[in-house]
Amino acid sequence: MDLDLLSRRPDVEDPTLQAHDATDELLVREGLVAARERGLTGADVVVVGERHGAITLSLLAQGLHGMRVIQDRLVHERALDANAAEVQLDPAGYRHLPAHPDSFAGARLILWQLPRSVAAVERGARMAAHAAPDALLIAGGRIKHLSVGMNAPLAQHFGQVQPQRAERKSRLLLAQHSAVAGPGAQGNPAASGMPAPVHSTVNAGGRRLKLAALAEAFGGADLDPGTALMLRTLDQSDWQLPPGEAALATPLVVDLGCGNGTIACWAALTWPQAHIEATDDSADAVASAELSAALNGVQDRVSVVRADGGDHLPDGAAELVLLNPPFHQGGTVHTGIASKLIRSAARMLRPGGTLVCVWNSHLRYRPRLERLVGPTQQLARDKTFTLTVSTRRG
Ligand SMILES: C[S@@+](CC[C@H](N)C(=O)[O-])C[C@H]1O[C@@H](n2cnc3c(N)ncnc32)[C@H](O)[C@@H]1O
Repeated sequence: MDLDLLSRRPDVEDPTLQAHDATDELLVREGLVAARERGLTGADVVVVGERHGAITLSLLAQGLHGMRVIQDRLVHERALDANAAEVQLDPAGYRHLPAHPDSFAGARLILWQLPRSVAAVERGARMAAHAAPDALLIAGGRIKHLSVGMNAPLAQHFGQVQPQRAERKSRLLLAQHSAVAGPGAQGNPAASGMPAPVHSTVNAGGRRLKLAALAEAFGGADLDPGTALMLRTLDQSDWQLPPGEAALATPLVVDLGCGNGTIACWAALTWPQAHIEATDDSADAVASAELSAALNGVQDRVSVVRADGGDHLPDGAAELVLLNPPFHQGGTVHTGIASKLIRSAARMLRPGGTLVCVWNSHLRYRPRLERLVGPTQQLARDKTFTLTVSTRRG
């Protein structure tokens, strides 16, 4: 299949960003060889960390059918579906499955675009250990994003790792499932493969918050320094949550791109009169924010939803949006995702509603906030970040 036919939408599109990379191509090439050698039809193939569909759709075009696909980000799931429709491949040729050990049951071939963090590799390897005893795992990544520290969890939970020769700045790691690795091999219940969150307790904006994070949640269970500035400033200023458009209505506060849920938990504790909507397109972030809300006893007033830029919320529904947008797109600094989320904030705010946004000062988002939302003022600034408040124009 011609991978240049694929597009990134609804993920950020830009001529500098591609919908496939050399790692996808190596995974497809070696995956097809392995599938043929093993006589696989597709149902016993799991594709992990797929982005815009390059791996799954290439296998589908080569006659494999019934692949299981695990993607953390909703925009990646939607991009795969949109590309399947665009290149007229049968969307019933693959299934979206959650990151869970059961999703690997009986699998004989696993093709894995590796995540960046060793913790996420460890988590994935534990789950992959639930594959068939003779399963082959082919994992890969851009060399600049791979670390030798990834080999140990792969070997421990799955099987001996054989790094392959680098090609076009990517490298594959092969691991053959071994009897000594695998679920329960060490008689250890933690080897069950169930995702285990990490926990922390942080001081943010005058409150002590308990945080939980699954492996792919942005920043783990740490307090993000931009978020720390936002919450400290809101706590120390005389800024008040407006009462809501109708006098008796419960104001809706949105934590847009909620990650581990720090902002949502802080908002729920600070404004007991409000309902908080925490939303992110990452499945791990959403699961983390749910855990954090429960740890802080605010789960009844915090709804957590996996959505793309809060697209489940009606226009004009929010009184206040709190946003710490990402400034990376994959491995590169890119402002497209921030623009997308600022636009989303403008859409969901009622006229006169407020966006509080923290951003790396060098990215100079103020004109963008003025244009997309409305009049914008600086609330605070430290050596790295600027915090602004924008009022949605009517
Ligand atoms: C800089 S992090 C902030 C996380 C969290 N609010 C905090 O303060 O620690 C940005 C978050 O935006 C999320 N994100 C990226 N693209 C998104 C999208 N299209 N829709 C919703 N959330 C998105 C990321 O998954 C990430 O959790």
